[in-house]
Parts: sequence; C-alpha cells; structure tokens
Amino acid sequence: MIEAALFGAGRIGKIHAANLARQVGVRLKYVVDVHVESARELAQLHGASVVGVDQALEDPSIKAVVVASSTDTHADLIVRAAAAGKAIFCEKPVDLTLARAQAAADAVKQAGVLCMIGFQRRYDPTFAAVKARLQAGEIGVPEMLTVTSRDPGAPPVSYIKVSGGIFKDMLIHDFDIFRWILDDEAASVYATGSCLTDPAIGEAGDLDATAVTIRTRKGRLCQINTTRRAAYGYDQRFEILGSTGMLQAGNHRPTEVTAYSAHSVSADKPEHFFLERYRAAYAAEMAHFFDALVNGTPLRTTVHDGLKALELAEAATTSWREQRIVHL
Ligand SMILES: NC(=O)c1ccc[n+]([C@@H]2O[C@H](COP(=O)([O-])OP(=O)(O)OC[C@H]3O[C@@H](n4cnc5c(N)ncnc54)[C@H](O)[C@@H]3O)[C@@H](O)[C@H]2O)c1
Repeated sequence: MIEAALFGAGRIGKIHAANLARQVGVRLKYVVDVHVESARELAQLHGASVVGVDQALEDPSIKAVVVASSTDTHADLIVRAAAAGKAIFCEKPVDLTLARAQAAADAVKQAGVLCMIGFQRRYDPTFAAVKARLQAGEIGVPEMLTVTSRDPGAPPVSYIKVSGGIFKDMLIHDFDIFRWILDDEAASVYATGSCLTDPAIGEAGDLDATAVTIRTRKGRLCQINTTRRAAYGYDQRFEILGSTGMLQAGNHRPTEVTAYSAHSVSADKPEHFFLERYRAAYAAEMAHFFDALVNGTPLRTTVHDGLKALELAEAATTSWREQRIVHL
C-alpha cells in the first residue's frame, strides 16, 4: 500500500483527492491545508487525517505528495518534499518566478525523486488522440498550430491579484500544449493583450484577453488566443496544419443530443469549465503518476516542462509589458 499526503483542499485538491483515492494500492493518509475546515471536510470524506506540513513530510510511510495548494506555496513544498525523499505531483505553475522554479527543479534533481507537473491537457483523451495521430504521420510534418483557449468567466479579482497574471496563471497550459504538440521550443514570442471584460481586472494590473504569436526554432508558427469570457462556455480547441493535412481537436459537450426544428439545429454548448472538461484528464494524470511511481513508467510531464512553460509565460509577460518581440 502506498500512502500519500495532499497539500491543498480547495477546488483542484478535491478532484485530486478523489482520483488518488481511486488508485488501487494507494491510500490518502493526510490532508494538509492552512484552512483547517477545508482540510477536515476533505479528510473525512476519504478517511484521512488532518496534519501540518512537517508531520506529513516527516512520516516515512508517506511515499508520495500531491501539491494542490495556492501557487505561491508550490516551489517551497517541492523543495521540502524532495529533501524528504517523496515522489511529487505538483499543480501548475511550478512558481511565479523562474528563479524559484529553477531552485525547485534543482532540488528534485539533487534528491533524485519523481516530480510530475499537472499539465492535465496532455492526458485529455481528445488531445492525446490528436498527438498520437500527429506522431503517426497522418498529416505529415506539422507547420502551424492555432490554439483557442477561452474561459467561461473570470475568477474573482482577489484571485487575479495573486495569480501572477494571465500568462502565468492561464496561458501556462497553452504554452505547454504548444511545446508538446509541435515537439519544438520557442525562438521568439510576441504577446499583446487587452482588458475587455472587466475594468477591475485591468485595475489589478492584469489582462483578460490575449493574442500570442510564437515562432519555433524549427521555423514553425503558433498562435494562441485567450479570453477570460466566452458566453457559450469553456472553449478549448486547437488545430494543426501539416504538410499533408490538418488535425482539429474540438470541445466536449455534456451530451451529444442534437435538436432539429423548423428554424434551427441545436446542440449542447461546451462543457462548463475545467472541472468538467478535464474530468477524464485529471483521472488519467493521477493514474499516470502512480504508474510512474510503482512501475517506473517515464513521467510525461516533468518539472522541466513546468520550467519551460513558465519561461514562455515570462517571455510573453515581458513582450506585452514592453510591446516588443522577445527572443529566447
Ligand atoms: N491544472 C488545472 O487545471 C488547475 C485548475 C485549478 C487550479 N490549478 C492550480 O492549483 C492550485 C490551487 O488552485 P485552486 O483553484 O484549487 O485554489 P483554491 O484557492 O480553491 O485552493 C487552494 C487551497 O490551498 C490552501 N493553502 C494555501 N496555502 C497553503 C499552505 N501553505 N499549505 C497547505 N494548503 C494551503 C488554501 O487554504 C486553499 O484551500 C493553483 O496553483 C492553481 O494554479 C490547476
């Protein structure tokens, strides 16, 4: 039996706790959260105990930790968990600064522990199928990638203020998709943005709509368009143009019912938000983490991927602030 500890009992912590508890041979032993009531509620649901960070990390029976606490805690918890010899699953982003993220990656390397970053989109059945077909050569050599990534609504401004900005908080996933799908690194980035949906977001120093253009080292092109408001739901699509064809990854809908009337044909709008859209992906990534721990399967999303996505997010932030192309 592998025993595990979870840090953070918020929105994503609850999802990870449920998926962790579903793994055969894995038990959620501890839940840690500075908001004790949240920890207690989640621990009770899974027959776990509420402890502090030290107690969780000092327990030799704990082989794995899942870091799902607020972003500003990730780097420190990675460093401490690595020093304690635990396998680590950590939510994105690794940190809000490259220096601290690099320190966390160094600690992982030094300790020789597993450290997986929660870029769950790579585990989404639709996106994974596109990647597999691309790798199988179905559209030849990939040349251009277009990513559409729109949230149904913005988080509270209090969250935006500590989120690190839209590039590090939201587009970090799109930057990871870009690297994964094109199997390439950025040579240059140009990012622009606006505040179109809520002036309070602008007053907090952030954007709610962005357009990013990336040129890769191999000369491929990528465009990412993102907004914090899509009236019709969570819009997650991408399209790859290759030398012999094109692959499109579309949205998921709650049901596949289509209604035909004298005036129109209608279907469900896309699934509401990330908790629904990526339900299968969150389950698959947790299964992958424990498969890596138990069977030595190579990790598909490492702390290195976390660093590279953050590097792009930082480049995009600089590009937007200074209104110039950033070369990497
Ligand atoms: N991969 C994804 O799709 C995805 C989705 C949502 C959130 N996230 C990431 O997950 C993290 C949590 O996001 P959320 O939406 O669940 O936020 P949340 O605010 O709902 O939950 C965060 C929890 O962490 C707790 N916490 C804060 N400091 C702590 C500490 N030092 N030790 C233990 N617990 C602490 C808070 O009390 C809170 O309960 C963020 O880094 C976010 O970027 C990823």
